[in-house]
Amino acid sequence: MSKFPKRLLAASTAMATALVAWPLIGTSASAAEPHVDNPYAGATQYVNPTWAAAVEGAATRASDPALAAKMRVVKNQPTAVWMDRISAITGNADGNGLRFHLDRALLQKQAGTPLVFNLVIYDLPGRDCYALASNGELPATAAGMARYKTEYIDPIAAILADPKYQGIRIAATIEPDSLPNLITNISHPECQQAAPYYREGVKYALDKLHAIPNVYNYVDAAHSGWLGWDANAGPAAKLFAGVARTTAAGYASIDGFVTNTANTTPLVEPYLPNSSLTVGGNPIRSSKFYEWNSDFDEIDWTAHLYNLLVAEGFPASTGMLVDTSRNGWGGAARPTAASSSTDLNTYVDQSRVDRRIHRGAWCNPLGAGIGERPQATPAGYPASHLDAFVWIKPPGESDGASTDIPNDQGKRFDRMCDPTFVSPKLGNQLTGASPDAPLAGQWFESQFVELVRNAYPVIGGGGTSDQVAPSVPSGLQAGTVTSTSVALSWTASTDNVGVTGYDIYRGTTLAGSSTTTSFTATGLTANTTYSFTVRAKDAAGNVSAASTALPVTTSNTNNPPGGCRVTYSANSWSTGFTGSIKLTNTSTTPLTNWRLVFSFANGQTVQQGWNAVWSQTGSTVTGSATPGSWNATIAPGGTVDIGFNGTHTGTNTAPTAFSVSGQACSIG
Ligand code: BGC
Repeated sequence: MSKFPKRLLAASTAMATALVAWPLIGTSASAAEPHVDNPYAGATQYVNPTWAAAVEGAATRASDPALAAKMRVVKNQPTAVWMDRISAITGNADGNGLRFHLDRALLQKQAGTPLVFNLVIYDLPGRDCYALASNGELPATAAGMARYKTEYIDPIAAILADPKYQGIRIAATIEPDSLPNLITNISHPECQQAAPYYREGVKYALDKLHAIPNVYNYVDAAHSGWLGWDANAGPAAKLFAGVARTTAAGYASIDGFVTNTANTTPLVEPYLPNSSLTVGGNPIRSSKFYEWNSDFDEIDWTAHLYNLLVAEGFPASTGMLVDTSRNGWGGAARPTAASSSTDLNTYVDQSRVDRRIHRGAWCNPLGAGIGERPQATPAGYPASHLDAFVWIKPPGESDGASTDIPNDQGKRFDRMCDPTFVSPKLGNQLTGASPDAPLAGQWFESQFVELVRNAYPVIGGGGTSDQVAPSVPSGLQAGTVTSTSVALSWTASTDNVGVTGYDIYRGTTLAGSSTTTSFTATGLTANTTYSFTVRAKDAAGNVSAASTALPVTTSNTNNPPGGCRVTYSANSWSTGFTGSIKLTNTSTTPLTNWRLVFSFANGQTVQQGWNAVWSQTGSTVTGSATPGSWNATIAPGGTVDIGFNGTHTGTNTAPTAFSVSGQACSIG
């Protein structure tokens, strides 16, 4: 919450102008709203009836009455209205136009109580330059820029400036992801191309919207897992300040910043309050999950950013919004206490409420839940200068399609939304995205159900009486793996909901769900990695959240017993070493898409490597060929040289067993 009134002078001047230019038409509801410090203070917020109707549809279809009741609680929450393309201004097949919503906002406004209308400005030329799922309609060209100004911002500004709407406080989220992409992704050609248009477009939007006294500009400031590192945060604050200085009103054109837009980064990591805490001799911020980023959550990031912004010249009244629509992380998988492990990564992984496999997993992440309900001036975080918690991303609207879906909006298929994709951006892990997702912005009912179930704080109270679905099955593991099948088993859900069976997912639900705690997936392809999850069901058809995903690689038929030989050597220094491996195909058939597995005995950790894709789970290391790459096939008698840099503490014993596709290799 910010303390100081901003633009007092400008606001009163604007009011005086308003009185001259906009004759009042007699009701208090239409009186011009002065520009205040925090528009959310003492205000209600607009509930989007189109979105509420989609939620009501889901509630009608939910066979479980308790779940339907929760959905009907959610339905009454305010969410933002996105202007995600030019046609959204007048309305299109996906929704009603801006005037429709503003007219409904006038009807929702109670006399004497201000109302905030959350609006999202999202159509920059070259939109979503580092991803594909929300690419837009305007190219990153001068012509695209001209259309952005005349066909997008100008008509929006003209509607917002209609005196009819002067009594509504309009809070505009300005261009999610745009300026943050210029900090971290400027080496990406699409972002380089878009950069000048992002700066110019944001400046243009700020100028046009700030000129309307009842509009408040909140510039998107990514989230802690994106800009939290000092090396990103400082340059981001400078970029925001630089863009502000190009506007006519300077810093005053920006009322505040909004973080976590459409993301699932937690507001607070309750069991990791101190990033400097050491476990096993290392600060927890140095864990794999936090990668030396001290900002673990949005409370950290907003406080960090606020200080940097004020140092750059922004006024002390600058306020912060956090999009809490999907960052709840409740449900059975939520930890209830800090871990007692003495291993750094285990400690962090068991303590964090953010259950994603990587903080970069932005697309429809499984396991997320609805977060804090929208509220003004949330108490308890003075250093964060919060104006409000808001729901910018309407829960239930997809982040991107999990398969390629043709469309006329410019949106493309981003593999980060594909649950079967092992992403290099996520440390070569599966994306953890929800299966069967429609195009970005479209209603995604199964995700909505999960968001409601995993809400934290829980919706409608708490305790076991609030539980409407079975808890998540745990301990998913693979038994016998052949080239075409994987035998799975897991631990039953034990809770107060009668579990009647389990659905097994591999991208989509597999046919033949199981009434026991085991299942064999068949019809698979040799030497291919599949990600399995399992969900429990009850008699009413309620389904739990997905279990932790289990990646399993089917065995490779082309590596017969005794078909490989490994030579391993390590060059060690105090805590580091270089491991070199020669992998020879000693069989008489080519070895394709090889996958070498071995274990370290002394806690050694692979940091990065070459000529193979490296990953490590616990002590088990996998180095695999990139399919289609130059060394993906080893001819009979042929050898590939692969290697990595690693760390060790003390002893650095060489692995004693190596296997390719489950077959042991000879050593030497
Ligand atoms: C989509 C928009 C949509 C918004 C809100 C974005 O990811 O690209 O089309 O309006 O999400 O759901």
